[in-house]
Amino acid sequence: MDNILEVKNLSVSFMSYIGEIRAVRDVSFSLKPGETLAIVGESGCGKTVTVKALMRLFGNSAAVIKEGSQILFRGQDIAKMKKTDLYNIRGSGIGMIFQDPMTSLNPTMNVGDQIVEGIRTHDQKISRRDAIARAVKLLELVGIPSPEERIKNYPHQLSGGMRQRVMIAIAIACSPDIIIADEPTTALDVTIQAQVLELLRELKDKLNTAFILVTHDLGIVFDFSDRIQVMYAGRIVERGTKHEIYKNPVHPYTWALLNSIPRRGLQSKDELYSIKGTPPDLMLPLESCPFAPRCDYAMPICKARAPQEIALSDTHGAACWLLHSMAPKVERPGTLRGADNE
Ligand SMILES: Nc1ncnc2c1ncn2[C@@H]1O[C@H](COP(=O)(O)OP(=O)(O)OP(=O)(O)O)[C@@H](O)[C@H]1O
Ligand SMILES: [Mg+2]
Repeated sequence: MDNILEVKNLSVSFMSYIGEIRAVRDVSFSLKPGETLAIVGESGCGKTVTVKALMRLFGNSAAVIKEGSQILFRGQDIAKMKKTDLYNIRGSGIGMIFQDPMTSLNPTMNVGDQIVEGIRTHDQKISRRDAIARAVKLLELVGIPSPEERIKNYPHQLSGGMRQRVMIAIAIACSPDIIIADEPTTALDVTIQAQVLELLRELKDKLNTAFILVTHDLGIVFDFSDRIQVMYAGRIVERGTKHEIYKNPVHPYTWALLNSIPRRGLQSKDELYSIKGTPPDLMLPLESCPFAPRCDYAMPICKARAPQEIALSDTHGAACWLLHSMAPKVERPGTLRGADNE
């Protein structure tokens, strides 16, 4: 099947007064229709900048998609597209769900009007009445009780979970081919998180949309994703099917992430494993492996030269010197939690 999205050599930098911040560095990946990709990594690793680049949603920030980057959506390059074509793709081609629905919903408009507005921007022929009827159906689909009543509510009259359901209704309103969910549940409490994830899973099956799920928590992606890619310092350090990532992770950073998944039933936050050391400096050029200063297995080469991706299968690959044929064999830690999820 043809890829619906192909990202090739995507690099995004912020031009700040202290210099260039290389937030995303030479990232390539693709997505097939109906497939779900999870992008995972610690705070600041470039997940949001990557997915925002897919829709060129940088607002007034000083972000620059660097020369040579390609974002092919159905074969058309979003990186070079005219603004008017881009507006058509936002919503009807690619829908986006953000972390905090309170800041992404319009506080001055009732939720019905916000959904109707979304529907009518992309379908000029639909009457207001039909659009309202569709908005009610959408609210029903995302599990909002009494949708005919709720449609008149303003965002502040809804709970956090309900607001996120409204955001999801807006994202799916124009039946996009791809839905991007950037940390869709982090702002919610644990039970509501599980409900919203369950809703996304149901919708994914029902609508057969491709999904990109962005999260810092490898613990929630197993049930949800087909493939996983792990990011560090703006690069993809490991990619694979979910089974490859959970059963046979090879990058020490992926090991550390798997180890930071909370154990089921964990009571105290103290027991959580956190990755030692400080996150990388994105101003530095990539002359070495960015994870080397925090890596228990770092060799002299890791601090001298950045590793290139080495393929382990058609779908599995990682950028780590340990995979070099002449590197010493290391055992991965026996305590990884990923296997619990299978
Ligand atoms: N508006 C901005 N101006 C300057 N630098 C920025 C800006 N937004 C992001 N960055 C830089 O880009 C890097 C990647 O940011 P990004 O938001 O993609 O991280 P993330 O992986 O989504 O993290 P989180 O899990 O916290 O959401 C940050 O570490 C920061 O240095
Ligand atoms: Mg983010």
